[in-house]
Amino acid sequence: MFDLKNKVAVVTGASGGLGEGMAKALSEAGAKIAILDLKDGSGVLKKLKTKSNYYKLDVLNEESIKVVLEKVINDFGKIDILVNNSGIFFPTPVESTNSSDWDKIINVNLRGYFLVTKYAVSYMKNGGRIINVALVAGTHAFASSSAYNASKGAVIMLTKTFASEFAKKGITANAICPGIFETPMTKEMLKSKETLDMINNSIPLKRTGKPDEIGALAVYLASGESAYMTGSIITIDGGWTCHL
Ligand SMILES: NC(=O)c1ccc[n+]([C@@H]2O[C@H](COP(=O)([O-])OP(=O)(O)OC[C@H]3O[C@@H](n4cnc5c(N)ncnc54)[C@H](O)[C@@H]3O)[C@@H](O)[C@H]2O)c1
Repeated sequence: MFDLKNKVAVVTGASGGLGEGMAKALSEAGAKIAILDLKDGSGVLKKLKTKSNYYKLDVLNEESIKVVLEKVINDFGKIDILVNNSGIFFPTPVESTNSSDWDKIINVNLRGYFLVTKYAVSYMKNGGRIINVALVAGTHAFASSSAYNASKGAVIMLTKTFASEFAKKGITANAICPGIFETPMTKEMLKSKETLDMINNSIPLKRTGKPDEIGALAVYLASGESAYMTGSIITIDGGWTCHL
């Protein structure tokens, strides 16, 4: 079960955090991994079990997306699995957020997923799997995070659109909605003991998630065993949103 041998997975934003957790699990299951990230991914490459490469990419740059995916094809010959995971967060309270900050979050978190998918899908010749990392904020709004919430809500709708549009090509698309995980993105927020205690107390399982805990879900969604699942939005949050 869940054998990804001979599969090629492109994982964006996998130079750390949740992307690293998913890249490691996909590699454990046998997939070759292409890490696409703005940040150097050589440290993660050393932890992967299969043939894997790092490609520097800014998902804001459409031309560069095309060039990098061509390099992936030259190196690996095909793409079977795409994990759209690259993302940024900073607070965007409605009244004090300027339009360039708004655009930056929307463009990395949403336009980036759209563009990488647009070009990657043309290389998925024998069906494929798309996994979009959204967030529980895609369905539950957090104050002072207007652009982030909106980007993740839109990623959920983009996922359903991919599922509808690509079904005829044998490509499935599903979204993972994590709660709060310990990654470079949340490090600053979780640094204060008071905040951490408050967050832990609000989660039924009384703790935040670890990046490795998301990997098995990505493997399932990337595998043949998930063939009948598409357009699904899967929450992994220690029960956090049960009572939000
Ligand atoms: N950590 C959490 O609690 C949490 C919860 C829900 C969803 N998420 C989402 O999970 C994904 C991964 O986040 P993370 O927590 O691992 O954070 P992270 O900061 O560790 O990882 C994000 C990665 O995206 C890359 N990236 C940022 N901008 C980029 C760009 N323009 N082009 C290419 N790569 C870029 C970064 O270099 C980084 O490696 C994000 O989409 C985030 O919104 C995180």
